[in-house]
Amino acid sequence: MSTAPRQTPEGGRRPVTLPRLAEMKRNGEPIVMVTAYDFPSAKVAEEAGVDVVLVGDTAAMVVLGYDATTPVGMDEMVTMAAAVRRGLKTPLLIGDMPFGSYERSNEHAIDNAQRFIREASCAAVKLERGGASVERARAIIRSGIPVMGHVGLTPQTVNALGGFKTQGKTAASAARVAEEALALQAAGCFAIVFEAVPAAITEALVPKLEVPAIGIGAGPATDGQVLVFHDLLGIHRGHIPKFVKRYAEIGDGMVAGVRAYADDVRAGRFPDAEHAYSVEPDELAAFKRYLDEESLASVPAWDW
Ligand code: KIV
Repeated sequence: MSTAPRQTPEGGRRPVTLPRLAEMKRNGEPIVMVTAYDFPSAKVAEEAGVDVVLVGDTAAMVVLGYDATTPVGMDEMVTMAAAVRRGLKTPLLIGDMPFGSYERSNEHAIDNAQRFIREASCAAVKLERGGASVERARAIIRSGIPVMGHVGLTPQTVNALGGFKTQGKTAASAARVAEEALALQAAGCFAIVFEAVPAAITEALVPKLEVPAIGIGAGPATDGQVLVFHDLLGIHRGHIPKFVKRYAEIGDGMVAGVRAYADDVRAGRFPDAEHAYSVEPDELAAFKRYLDEESLASVPAWDW
């Protein structure tokens, strides 16, 4: 099967589609995925040429300041996804179903998945875990919305897992990861995220999968990698997992920039003439005469 060329006739990138991701897996082309939560991070992902953007529920931690992913809700996720959509043209956009948005029933899951499509023009949604989530994934896919699965460390159920722990370190635990991944694939998921799984387990498992496996802390054998925007750029200042590689220290740059601004304001160096608007001298003189008028001096200040 041939897929569309990767460039438009004008030399721009063609939007990334599900068939293109399948083609990348077949060709052994690594899939690059990153999270984004707002317009500027989406613009960065677009310009950097990534393939897939996830509006992840990690927003709860790196954007909203919670210590878990569970507090973020559908309204916040859809608002963020719509902002990301406005900054993206090329990467495939995926909305992450937050905790509580899909567990209750297939109908509830479909309603919420549809919000990502209708209100934010996402191409697909992601949900966590095997088990009951497999049925939800199947129902959403049958309703016409592509679904990405997520196995291994699933932060929404971190309490049930006993903490933010690597999954698949024993044969039994690795078998559970494998069973969940295969069940999600059988349900129709177009790709599966593997989080915090030993590299050798992923290496053994990925050849058994027909759909792309995207790793985060799952070693190099997956078909692609995903990292959280704020982690990889050094914007997130709190704890970062072992699997995060920092590609920049933007957070330090941001603090240095705001500190320099504060110093300039306090020292009277900002704003200077270069950053101020000018006015014609005769207009200024007229305005000063107006200010000196007796009547203006008698206007009382607002009484709070
Ligand atoms: O919410 C998120 O950012 C994620 C990625 C870590 C895969 O699920």
